[in-house]
Amino acid sequence: MTEHATRWGILGTGNAARTIAAAIRSARDSMLQAVASRGGHRREQSRALGPRELHDSYEALAASDNIDVVHIATPHTAHFQNALLCLEAGKSVVCEKPLTMSRSEAEQLILLARSKGAFLMEAVWPRFLPAVIRSRELVEHGSIGRPQFVNTSIAIHLDPAAHPRVYDPSLGGGVINELGSYPLAFAIGIMGPVLGSKAISTQSGLVSENCLMQCVHQAGLSSGFCSLKFQGRNQVVIVASDGQLTLLPASGKFETLLIWSGNNGKEITEDHAYAGTGYEFMIEHVNECIREGWNESPLMPLADSLNMAGALESCNQQCSMPA
Ligand SMILES: NC(=O)c1ccc[n+]([C@@H]2O[C@H](COP(=O)([O-])OP(=O)(O)OC[C@H]3O[C@@H](n4cnc5c(N)ncnc54)[C@H](OP(=O)(O)O)[C@@H]3O)[C@@H](O)[C@H]2O)c1
Repeated sequence: MTEHATRWGILGTGNAARTIAAAIRSARDSMLQAVASRGGHRREQSRALGPRELHDSYEALAASDNIDVVHIATPHTAHFQNALLCLEAGKSVVCEKPLTMSRSEAEQLILLARSKGAFLMEAVWPRFLPAVIRSRELVEHGSIGRPQFVNTSIAIHLDPAAHPRVYDPSLGGGVINELGSYPLAFAIGIMGPVLGSKAISTQSGLVSENCLMQCVHQAGLSSGFCSLKFQGRNQVVIVASDGQLTLLPASGKFETLLIWSGNNGKEITEDHAYAGTGYEFMIEHVNECIREGWNESPLMPLADSLNMAGALESCNQQCSMPA
């Protein structure tokens, strides 16, 4: 760790907080300065994350002078208020996905961050993986022609007993909020903003468990399937006029990139294996943004988060059960 290490704080002590804490501890130029739990009732869980300081309220962490950036790892419905608290206190913020529950809330956070000169980013961590960055570069350089369609499938088995938050409507539960940001982030990164969307879903309990989102973008179409019910292989396929890219997992998430050329019918395989969980790439990117004094990420810009918030809000409305 260097003397210029970025000092991170985390709000929340659940699953995401544990993953992010480990990534901060192992990423370059990072220090896990503080963790806060609501009301201090989970001091042991906070301590287990390994920070230098523990705070018994989110307000206390937001007010600390020892923090450069706060990672918000709380339920979806709390993101807006928690981010507001930290931005008002002049802190930079990395907020778990989805950034907010509505486009209007996302817009308010973006305006506040800009008025405070603070960094704000939605934590869509796959955007920072080497294979994903390479796929975007290939598209930008025209290596597979004009992109036409992005097809993403993300199925992560989240059992209701182990993950009650994900099935709780009052905490913004359901597959669209839990996983929908991933296909949208892949598609928007390649095809540009969503101009319109259609969504269908199935559910057996209080929240949707499988969904299909179909979007019209500036450059073409996308389709995203998500499920909470089983563990899928998980892949992204980018179909273009002169070729196709396929992002696949190897031992972790999206380390393999298949590049198929429509000109000669040949396919090559690139291996972008990494050590660690993969979240370290996002942490190191944020460290760079903070070091350079940037107020937003060039890889996960706020315009994408605003567009995603609008698309998710629309998909949720289309899939809501009649009262
Ligand atoms: N699980 C993952 O691996 C993962 C991966 C990517 C993204 N995410 C995102 O991270 C966020 C948190 O997910 P999670 O899986 O970490 O959830 P979780 O395990 O349920 O933990 C959420 C934490 O938020 C705090 N919290 C604040 N207000 C709360 C409330 N009203 N009810 C319950 N908890 C509240 C709690 O910590 P204190 O009580 O200690 O303050 C709790 O430990 C979500 O937005 C999710 O989309 C999660």
